[in-house]
Amino acid sequence: MILKVVKYPEPVLSQPGEPVTEFNDELREFVADMFETMYAAKGIGLAAPQVAVSKRITVIDLSNGKDPEQKLVLINPEVIAREGRQYEEEGCLSFPDIHEKVQRAEKVTIRAQDEFGEWFEMDGEELLSRAFQHEIDHLDGMLFIFRMSALKRDMILRRIRKAQREGTW
Ligand code: NI
Repeated sequence: MILKVVKYPEPVLSQPGEPVTEFNDELREFVADMFETMYAAKGIGLAAPQVAVSKRITVIDLSNGKDPEQKLVLINPEVIAREGRQYEEEGCLSFPDIHEKVQRAEKVTIRAQDEFGEWFEMDGEELLSRAFQHEIDHLDGMLFIFRMSALKRDMILRRIRKAQREGTW
């Protein structure tokens, strides 16, 4: 089932998600819906708060459905190590058509549970590292515009307000 993706400034996007404690069929069905929603929106990452569910669940697939081996489910994830720096363009399904450079760690190690509750660790570099950091930020209620300079953020917020007035946001 394709879920509705909420846009900034929907309040749920700025709230920290609740930890997941039950790894049941309902959770796995929700994860499947998140993948379906992300693929329909042509994204490479989606966090539960973006579909108005305030829980620490995110899905990532850098291949956008082309390579099943790239499907990642991160539940209750955290970044446990970071190294280096990168400054590349990012987008977010909750900010349609907005792309800006954001500074992130070049490499991170994350720790997370899968949809059955098994803990695992994984390293990511470059794009995968950015996806980890962007999506885990969502679970803390942190949005990518707050990782930019105040100047860029204000420019984007003005653009959004204009689009809201014109009814295109
Ligand atoms: Ni996002």
